[in-house]
Amino acid sequence: MPHWVPSSWRDFPAQQQPVYADGTHLSHVLEQIRQSPPLISVAAIEALRIALAEVADGRRFLLQGGDCAERFQDCSAAKIENKLEILSQLSDVLADITQKPILTIGRIAGQYAKPRSLDIEGREGDFALPSFRGDNVNQRKPSWKARQADPRRLWIGHQCAALTLQHLRSLCQGPFYTSHEGLLLAYEEAVTYEVPAYKRHYNLGAHFLWIGDRTRQLTGAHVEFFRGIANPIGVKLGPHISPGELVRLVERLNPQREVGRVTLITRLGHANVASLLPSLIHAVQDADHPVLWVCDPMHGNGFLAETGHKTREFTSICAELHNTAAVHHHCGSRLGGLHIELTGEAVTECLGGPQELGLSDLSTNYQTYCDPRLNGVQSLALVEQLVGHIHR
Ligand code: PEP
Ligand code: CO
Repeated sequence: MPHWVPSSWRDFPAQQQPVYADGTHLSHVLEQIRQSPPLISVAAIEALRIALAEVADGRRFLLQGGDCAERFQDCSAAKIENKLEILSQLSDVLADITQKPILTIGRIAGQYAKPRSLDIEGREGDFALPSFRGDNVNQRKPSWKARQADPRRLWIGHQCAALTLQHLRSLCQGPFYTSHEGLLLAYEEAVTYEVPAYKRHYNLGAHFLWIGDRTRQLTGAHVEFFRGIANPIGVKLGPHISPGELVRLVERLNPQREVGRVTLITRLGHANVASLLPSLIHAVQDADHPVLWVCDPMHGNGFLAETGHKTREFTSICAELHNTAAVHHHCGSRLGGLHIELTGEAVTECLGGPQELGLSDLSTNYQTYCDPRLNGVQSLALVEQLVGHIHR
């Protein structure tokens, strides 16, 4: 493999990157971030990799969850405590069901950037309206000015992540592991350092980072960046991944076949699992790659409701989880964890569940900045679906 430095990705095509009007301003902010104290320690990242290897071996079960898009305004003690509370409730229920210790990773303290299907979202008078790309990039307010990418938001996001981490640490006995989609490569480069003691580069902005389904191109900048960081990493797999492409991807990301290094997070859509997942599993088995398989039952099941809200049906989410667990069992593989978008707050963003939320309920408390999350009641009902599914 060719030599790697944190900026190597710049020679590859990068999807989903904001365009900043003032490049000098951006460079200043990135330098300020690079000079600021790192958020995460190498020791904690290494500890997570060992814990993930235990998940891959069936000795633990993984719960990864949090908001689709964190908001700067939610960097508050109450919101962080609320998130921790629902994750710990879910982890208790999962421990009961799986009879395994639960490893929890939050989608938290840095999940501020979003990939979008469209660059342009509509019009404001004569102007095309750029899409909202998360609080790290621009404002959600639908005006041309508010939607311009602003480098100062990267610095604010970095500080919100630091404050969130500090509060999580004060509330937890052991380490609390954090994760986000490693989307904005200029930012991720700025928080990546060579650690001489390990002779490797670490991204010290989060314990775990994942590559989104929209940016996992083999020859793209994200895969190039991720192959060089020593953190445990995830890859989201949507219905367009082919078995051959998947094998090349894990080969590129984990040539040494380290256990705990790569987590494959499938989000195929509930109706596609039975037809697509077996050949993905078999391809990885045949290539003898040690991966951890996790189910994201959320992202393959979204749709736009007639009310104009982005939503998901609780029954489809459950169906994806059931089908995924069944296919792993059938293929002699192991489902090692669950990746979900949730909040402990009583939001009405997903349809159905124990509260039988209907279309007319969506507007009652629809808060998300991006994808619809399960509320506390729905999340607890979802993890209950794993009863009888975790065999070994
Ligand atoms: C997400 O996790 O919010 C996301 C955008 O996922 P995916 O890359 O799987 O679409
Ligand atoms: Co999402």
